[in-house]
Amino acid sequence: MGRIIAIANQKGGVGKTTTAINLSACLAEAKKKVLTIDLDPQGNTTSGLGVDKNETDNTVYELMLGECTVKECIQKTQIEELYLIASDVNLAGAEIELLGINDKEYILKNAVDYIKDDYDFIIIDCPPSLNMLTVNAMTTADTVLVPIQCEYYALEGLSQLIHTIDLVQQRLNPNLQLEGVVFTMYDARTNLSLQVVENVKNNLNTTIYKTIIPRNIRLAEAPSHGLPINLYDSKSAGAESYRLLAQEVMNRKDI
Ligand SMILES: Nc1ncnc2c1ncn2[C@@H]1O[C@H](COP(=O)(O)OP(=O)(O)O)[C@@H](O)[C@H]1O
Ligand SMILES: [Mg+2]
Repeated sequence: MGRIIAIANQKGGVGKTTTAINLSACLAEAKKKVLTIDLDPQGNTTSGLGVDKNETDNTVYELMLGECTVKECIQKTQIEELYLIASDVNLAGAEIELLGINDKEYILKNAVDYIKDDYDFIIIDCPPSLNMLTVNAMTTADTVLVPIQCEYYALEGLSQLIHTIDLVQQRLNPNLQLEGVVFTMYDARTNLSLQVVENVKNNLNTTIYKTIIPRNIRLAEAPSHGLPINLYDSKSAGAESYRLLAQEVMNRKDI
């Protein structure tokens, strides 16, 4: 049985998409079969994996509106073992279009149920808000992975996010667990990064991934080439760190 991981944090710019792209690619590099679902209307995971949104007829938007089947919207990427359900800007309107539809919290889950046994990992990149799309990700997922940017306001909003995960677990998806947190954009030259890590460790009772993702310019450059970091610069600090994160994720025995 595979594991479905939603990458969520309602703050923008904390490294969700970078983690979705590169964790997916490094799991695939380790020979796991991976499906990445882009659930953000910005579609940055889609373009970051080298897929042209304009060339894609069936995105997660068509899937959620019942205009295509899940198999029809899964596409291959340039990376062996890595498949994608793309997103584009239309998804921004989905929440309104789904108003009044029965079981709208479970639309993605009901679709993914058909294919989840085909993959070792399904990674869902969430939008930067706690909206119906994020709820759909959390009803589909087994676990939620929370990227935390090593900056001053890191803890802000975290209690709200954890409250949301608790609510979804109580009311919609009793199997949902917190996968843990991963620190991103760590800058070894500043005390601040270190303080943030210590502060979160002291205040949060959850798994904290040992791998800390450094601030690395290659990670920021790679999406503009449509490549994950292990293909863009395989020896960079960013690639090494996402490989280590993928190993840790694969080695979890408790979830
Ligand atoms: N470890 C990192 N080192 C350098 N830049 C990063 C790193 N992680 C993310 N970025 C950059 O920071 C910005 C926000 O990251 P992104 O993954 O898009 O966050 P989110 O999906 O949470 O909004 C992007 O421009 C991205 O390229
Ligand atoms: Mg994003």
